Amino acid sequence: MRLCLFHLPWLLLFSLVAKPTFSYSPERRSYLTHDYLVLEHNPAGGASLDECAGELGVEVVEQVGELQNLWLVRSVKAMPGILARSTRDNVRARYESLRTRAAASNAFWSRSGHQQRARRIFSSIHYLEEQVPRQRTKRDDSLIQRAPPPTTPADQIPDAASAVAAHLGISDPLFPTQWHIINPDFPEHMMNVTGLWEMGITGRGVITSLVDDGLDYNNRDLTENFDAAHSYDFNDHTDLPTPALADDRHGTRCAGQIGAVKNDVCGVGLAYGSKVAGVRILSGPITDVDEAAALNYGFHNVSIYSCSWGPPDDGKSMEGPSYIIQKAVVNGVQNGRGGKGSIFVFASGNGAMFGDQCNFDGYTNSIYSVTVAAVDYKGLHPYYSEACAANMVVAYSSGSGKSIVTSDVGDGKCSNAHGGTSAAAPNAAGVFALALSVRPDLSWRDIQHLCVRTARQINPGDPDWEWTATGRSFSYKYGYGQLDAYAFVTAAENWSLVKPQAWFHPSAIQVNNGSLLEENGEMTGGVPIARGGVSSTFTVTKEMMEQHNLEDIEHVTVRVWISHTKRGDVGVELFSPNGIRSVLAAPRSQDLDSTGFRGWRFMSIKHWGENPLGQWTIKILDQSVEGQNGTFHGWRLMFWGSAIDSSKAKTYALPSNEYLLPSLEEPETIDVPTAATTKFLPKPTLGLPDDHESAEGEADQPAFSGKPVGSASPTMTPTPDEGWFSDMSNLVYNSRWFFGALSVVFLFGIGAGVYLWRRRVGRRAAYSSLAVEDVAMTSVTGTVRPGVRAKELYDAFGEVSDDEDVDEEGHMLGASTQSELHAGFLDDEESAESSPRYRDDPEVGDDEQRHLTAVGRPDSVGSGSSWEHASQT
Ligand SMILES: *[C@@H]1O[C@H](CO)[C@@H](O)[C@H](O)[C@H]1NC(C)=O
Ligand SMILES: *[C@@H]1O[C@H](CO)[C@@H](O)[C@H](O)[C@H]1NC(C)=O
Ligand SMILES: *[C@@H]1O[C@H](CO)[C@@H](O)[C@H](O)[C@H]1NC(C)=O
Ligand SMILES: *[C@@H]1O[C@H](CO)[C@@H](O)[C@H](O)[C@H]1NC(C)=O
Ligand SMILES: *[C@@H]1O[C@H](CO)[C@@H](O)[C@H](O)[C@H]1NC(C)=O
Repeated sequence: MRLCLFHLPWLLLFSLVAKPTFSYSPERRSYLTHDYLVLEHNPAGGASLDECAGELGVEVVEQVGELQNLWLVRSVKAMPGILARSTRDNVRARYESLRTRAAASNAFWSRSGHQQRARRIFSSIHYLEEQVPRQRTKRDDSLIQRAPPPTTPADQIPDAASAVAAHLGISDPLFPTQWHIINPDFPEHMMNVTGLWEMGITGRGVITSLVDDGLDYNNRDLTENFDAAHSYDFNDHTDLPTPALADDRHGTRCAGQIGAVKNDVCGVGLAYGSKVAGVRILSGPITDVDEAAALNYGFHNVSIYSCSWGPPDDGKSMEGPSYIIQKAVVNGVQNGRGGKGSIFVFASGNGAMFGDQCNFDGYTNSIYSVTVAAVDYKGLHPYYSEACAANMVVAYSSGSGKSIVTSDVGDGKCSNAHGGTSAAAPNAAGVFALALSVRPDLSWRDIQHLCVRTARQINPGDPDWEWTATGRSFSYKYGYGQLDAYAFVTAAENWSLVKPQAWFHPSAIQVNNGSLLEENGEMTGGVPIARGGVSSTFTVTKEMMEQHNLEDIEHVTVRVWISHTKRGDVGVELFSPNGIRSVLAAPRSQDLDSTGFRGWRFMSIKHWGENPLGQWTIKILDQSVEGQNGTFHGWRLMFWGSAIDSSKAKTYALPSNEYLLPSLEEPETIDVPTAATTKFLPKPTLGLPDDHESAEGEADQPAFSGKPVGSASPTMTPTPDEGWFSDMSNLVYNSRWFFGALSVVFLFGIGAGVYLWRRRVGRRAAYSSLAVEDVAMTSVTGTVRPGVRAKELYDAFGEVSDDEDVDEEGHMLGASTQSELHAGFLDDEESAESSPRYRDDPEVGDDEQRHLTAVGRPDSVGSGSSWEHASQT
């Protein structure tokens, strides 16, 4: 007995800190000495992974997170400095050589058997992309000087709070100040969870992962609810997400909102019976491979991923997740949580005051994420919270004089200064944790349905509200309204699960032979965007719906190809057959980009449940500013919803090689659910101003005030050439780049933008040397599929990232790319001490040295650091 007692604390400590056997534990990276790439292996191509790696001269490091057939590989870095690019050159040269040998028609190669081998290997490499560590720079408000959290004297404790506290035995000292739980001044504005707690619903059994900058599990307010097994630090590649930098506070605060323990420290979390895990990615540069792994980390047992970060909210960026990150997200919704799907919760963004909109962010406008915007203490719209047609719900956060009270870094430390849409997302995640504890069988789409159905309208007089065809009210600012935990969870209790997902993705519509020329990246054809706008239509018939097994529609996504001398002047609107308008893009005055929209994908949930039969119209609007003009080249409408016949439901496959080159036969299976067009720009130093808390919100302005677009009558509606793929493939067939259908797009990522761009012509030449029959080898079945041509068409529209990595002067922008946290406060105050320490890197051990040599690159290991540019801000 004594022994047991003696050991108990140790056992507890061990069970907390030690990582139980867990399938996936990433290797430490050594960016100083190696270049990393991601390789997608196609086993059906006939060559083993080792063969492919050997041919490219790379070493296989590990599988990318939970993604099958995606592998992190590396090659030894060449001497830094003048030869800095030669490693890439080397891998690239080997790849090009492979391509040439695979394609060669001369007798020597084809007779020798070398060609068979080259073809086998070539067709076994689906995708290859360099991995450049990028700083997902966070912002937060921890450096703002504030008074210590108030301890409310007993006689001032609001009645409602003290009654609930007494009833539920809550003795957390700051509970009475947690207005988002009990709001004494505006009782209609709170998350409304206490009724559920009374029913014993506290989130038991559910794990939420905070993908953020760390989680202080040593704070007693979190220790008991911390889940170590599903936590990891991708910045320092250690097991536990320990906050290490001065400003690593954000993840801890978000975690407290969900899982702060009911004890005598700070306040309580909305789901205080649930567990929180921490996945640290925001405290230093990471690669897309690590971001992809982070979004699937522990995904069999983790239910919810709470993500309060994204591309810059500067009103001029337009960025989305890269291919492998999209793969991870699709993997999450299909295979996470025992196949019910990971719930990805994303903050809508803090850039509304810069005209930013969440439809310009490929994470928040993904159909797979629940996008959460903010309302404040008085239920008003805080000026930072971004609006868009992809906003699903709002949850409470800072503004009108109050912020969110939660846990902080340091044992027993609390924060009363948490805010931004960053704090709205975890409040929603907490509600979902409560619901999943009651109904663990809810799928990711059930959660979204419940949001749409149970969110409450607030500020009914706000002109931003509009009716949907289903009789619900929707607002770009509030989505379907305020997320009410009680309403959500009680509705979840008796909810009938939705049928499986189905989709209908009509072919792209070329407007006046609109196209995007691969040769020079220019978009051709199309119609000038006249004053008053131009439009194009597409008619959905009952047969189309039946053919695609689609019963009800949920998300509608729209890709557009528009060139414009100033992207921010463009407005995009979608009108349903029932006259419901979705503003997909409103003008953004700060967006001066001149590359236009090259297949950017917008999303609307405003048509949820609407009967889609009839004519859909897209309208492209322009500010018609003197000296600025643009052209509308084409668009593609895509519907997602539920299946008519569940037994015929298919599993959506995010294309691998088809990602860039869709197939002709099944256009509905080849579209990418999130943006292919990504452009990364350096982080702006502007965060949310200090007054995000004090500034009074509003409820009397439409989100998009710019042009009264609905009333602007189009003066010109050209008859679009509604070309189907057959038309387009004709166009494509004649082009040299058609042969790119050989299916591998060698995307040297962000850091190699210019390099690729310059080599482009040469690459095309290599394509064009291929005979048509060579196309056959791309097919896993060994037969020629007519769709191959259309794939290239998609490429024409879709492969833009290498262009867009280059700015007007031809500088590379990629290496300084950043995402940022939607907490957004005071980034300017980051001190030198906050520059990250990387444990991944420094010394190369003897073993590693030997290994490098074995790989065949005895070049000395340089002291130059890719981190320098990777971490620049
Ligand atoms: C909040 O929850 C209570 C039950 O605890 C419920 O009666 C009420 O309708 C919910 N909503 C609001 C706005 O109070
Ligand atoms: C995840 O859950 C499964 C079964 O529910 C369990 O066997 C496994 O140990 C869990 N993993 C961890 C790391 O806890
Ligand atoms: C759920 O359904 C059961 C039985 O049909 C019913 O008794 C219960 O009141 C329902 N609960 C809610 C929250 O509607
Ligand atoms: C579009 O291209 C086709 C085939 O090249 C051509 O016949 C047709 O006239 C073009 N249409 C327009 C509007 O230019
Ligand atoms: C702007 O107008 C000029 C002259 O009509 C035209 O040549 C150019 O292509 C237009 N630019 C865009 C982006 O449409």
